[in-house]
Amino acid sequence: MTDNTSDDAGFEPPLWEQLAEQSAQLHQGVRLQKVLAATGWGSRRVCEELIAEGRVTVNGEVAVLGRRVEADVDRVEVDGAPIGVRPGLVYYLLNKPAGVVTTSKDTHGRPTVVEIVPAEPRVFSVGRLDADTEGLLLLTNDGDLANRIAHPSHGVEKEYLAEVSGGAVSAGQLRQLREGIELEDGITAPAKVSQPETGLLRLTIHEGRNRQVRRMCDAVGHPVTRLVRTRIGPLSDRSLAPGDWRELTAAERRATTEAVAESAHQYDPPS
Ligand code: URA
Repeated sequence: MTDNTSDDAGFEPPLWEQLAEQSAQLHQGVRLQKVLAATGWGSRRVCEELIAEGRVTVNGEVAVLGRRVEADVDRVEVDGAPIGVRPGLVYYLLNKPAGVVTTSKDTHGRPTVVEIVPAEPRVFSVGRLDADTEGLLLLTNDGDLANRIAHPSHGVEKEYLAEVSGGAVSAGQLRQLREGIELEDGITAPAKVSQPETGLLRLTIHEGRNRQVRRMCDAVGHPVTRLVRTRIGPLSDRSLAPGDWRELTAAERRATTEAVAESAHQYDPPS
């Protein structure tokens, strides 16, 4: 006689559990067509067609329209090729030291970030850091992703640690920094700002204006004496020493793509 209690081959969870799981999958993550569009597969409409044609799989199963996916968890493929891995594209995370410039050639002969990473394929930096700013910088030859990350409408968060002079930043000044500072090129968008230690600020902004953090701190009377970028969207790495670089992992590439797709959400025209 077969012992059904110890043999669960062919066991199917009850219908209500299957429905709950399907519903959870549908409501988590980012819409698949948005992730595809953000990886350079074409407009949202084109990506919807790819899905409708059955060319897109999530974890090996053909995806349906309305499917949502999560970075780090789901494996998305188009025609059997992982979306994050397009041939010839490279993504480097560099911890830029002070004194190195982000432009590809410096008129004053200072070292440049592109001299630190491999010369081929040629890469460019996504956004820029001032010569005297340290910290994380993404370098790539993926123009699509670079434009999306750098464009303020995508609102990818960038986090900085700023050592400032002038002693403790008051509660009122912190509030000003959070709510918006009137700069010569307009008021800054709301920012997350905290003071983990006296004279040390952690600022998270999603705009990329020239010398923005320095100008914000100047405006409240606490000039920056040292500035380090510690995070770009989902990318951070405390073990990367100044001057060191590494390639993004597949999970980081997916998370970056997803962060761009997510942050574009509020700017979506209704479809
Ligand atoms: N804000 C600045 O002031 N400088 C940088 O390099 C980056 C952000």
